[in-house]
Amino acid sequence: MRYKKMKAWLHQCPGEIPQGIAAPCEMAEYELNNAFPESAWTIRVVPEMKDGYRIRQENGSWVLTGGDTGVLYGAYAMIRKYYSGQPAPAAEESAPRYALRMINCWDNADGTVERGYSGRSLFFEGGHFAYDSGRMRELGRLLASVGLNVLCINNVNVHDPAQLLLEDYLPEAAELAAILRPFGVRLMFSVDYSQPMRHGITTADPLDPAVRKWWKDTAARVWEAIPDLAGFLVKADSEGRPGPFTYGRNHAEGANMLAEAVKPYGGVVVWRCFVYNCRQDWRDLETDRPKAAYEHYAYLDGQFSDNVILQVKHGPFDFQVREPLSPLLLAMKKTNLAMELQLAQEYTGHQIDLYTMAPMWKELFEEMPSGNIMSIAAVSNLGRDENYTGHPLAAVNLYTFGLLAWNPDMDMETSVSEWIRLTYSLSEKDTGDLQRVLLSSRRIYEKYTAPLGIGWMVTPHDHYGPNPSGYEYDLWGTYHKADRNAVGIDRTEHGTGYLLQYPEDFRIKYEKPETCPDLMLLFYHRLPYTFRMKDGRTMIQRIYDDHFEGLEETEKMAAVIRSIPFPEPDFSCIVRRMDMQLRNAREWCDIINTFFHRLSGIDDEKGRKIYL
Ligand code: GCU
Repeated sequence: MRYKKMKAWLHQCPGEIPQGIAAPCEMAEYELNNAFPESAWTIRVVPEMKDGYRIRQENGSWVLTGGDTGVLYGAYAMIRKYYSGQPAPAAEESAPRYALRMINCWDNADGTVERGYSGRSLFFEGGHFAYDSGRMRELGRLLASVGLNVLCINNVNVHDPAQLLLEDYLPEAAELAAILRPFGVRLMFSVDYSQPMRHGITTADPLDPAVRKWWKDTAARVWEAIPDLAGFLVKADSEGRPGPFTYGRNHAEGANMLAEAVKPYGGVVVWRCFVYNCRQDWRDLETDRPKAAYEHYAYLDGQFSDNVILQVKHGPFDFQVREPLSPLLLAMKKTNLAMELQLAQEYTGHQIDLYTMAPMWKELFEEMPSGNIMSIAAVSNLGRDENYTGHPLAAVNLYTFGLLAWNPDMDMETSVSEWIRLTYSLSEKDTGDLQRVLLSSRRIYEKYTAPLGIGWMVTPHDHYGPNPSGYEYDLWGTYHKADRNAVGIDRTEHGTGYLLQYPEDFRIKYEKPETCPDLMLLFYHRLPYTFRMKDGRTMIQRIYDDHFEGLEETEKMAAVIRSIPFPEPDFSCIVRRMDMQLRNAREWCDIINTFFHRLSGIDDEKGRKIYL
């Protein structure tokens, strides 16, 4: 299958990347020579520098020194800076904060993508590998250009026949690995914990000798085919997936068994911590879903092998617009941790609504010492659409994620502006306008959707658009319990006790409604609509105000977006989606305001239209 041409950043690099470039240092040379035909470059590989690089000017020519992959990252850093109009550094030195900077694709072998909003899978169709190798090189370039180095190509929910990645599909997977190798991108596979049971073994018990042998033999075969495979990604005992709990084993026993199998080859086991009771009864007042991950893992700190990485979603629920930092990310000092973000806009507008994530990520990192984690992963927003991300402006999230994974202290204004300048040739004014729109988009989306940290007022299952009580009597543990007087759940020590999972300074910040930051108020507290916010407004008035403002700001944003001369086909695509966003924002605003007015009977002080 062929697609027309790449529509993401790095337009400055020549379209087709030739086959036959075997190593990242050769790729660095190729890219630099093409991007800067007038300049002389010397590339020196110092393997110990790994992903790090150093750039100097010596006697009028440029010297790029770095590890095997470091020189490639250095080359792309130069290209990005130069073509986004930043002054060429006289000298620059950089190394990534995290060794594994991972993209997790939730692609199924049938070609669908779970929570995918950019078309079908880039890798699979009809139960088989089906990719355009030119496009895979381009993908390798996109990922490497922002320092991303691990690509898990299949869904964590391993649906048939994706388990064949470890078996019949291995030769083709090895071909894909070879295409991505010169970009420093290593493959990873999601694996089905019960896979031995497809081979006549009656159990998947991690302590069973036959199971252990099966995984060891499988790892030997897999790494023989792909010697630099990064490892296995595992969703176990989560939302119906198989796992060690069936056999009375804990997750350290479960993960360590796999870790032992992959260890001889330098592989890692990335073990997801998204474990909770997804069959909760709404009448059960004891269980509070956000407590689940900590309860399942914190007590196991120190028991995981050194090649296991626990991958923890950034918040305790599931990628809502606003959630606190997961307490697990502050709790496990003796365990390798990775933070999981989600570029796919599952709850944040389906790549129809504008939603730039960098401001949210920066807030998360403000609450967590960056040394708490050793890797970072994001669920992919990529698909087979020509522009890769469905909404052309959603590519900013992939771009800035790469820069964040390299350096969580990155400056988000600069990163967003860099992406705009590499992607479009706009005037300074339009560039500035677009940057402001992108950076405000998350807050605007937050204002017109579920208020003050409650989350979950979305259409069930699909997760686009409002349905305030859609999940209220369901089995997923995501309740707001709004009645005529109050809304929210008390998660302090007087309520579910969730807040007790945090260190003291964190607890103090959130435990009292009077001092709890407004935007997190209803995550932690159950409060009457007449509760006085810090600025003197009642909580219900704040909800009305936010929703009306969110809609107005979307209208203003739409006017700015329509005034920017994006090239086609981007302009039409962006404007069409903006119209859909406007309808969505209006629907959210009206439904949420009506919902709370009907319950509370309290009028908007400003007399704006609420449909009763
Ligand atoms: C969410 C999402 C699922 C996904 C799951 C996960 O629940 O809706 O589609 O499988 O997260 O992270 O595993």
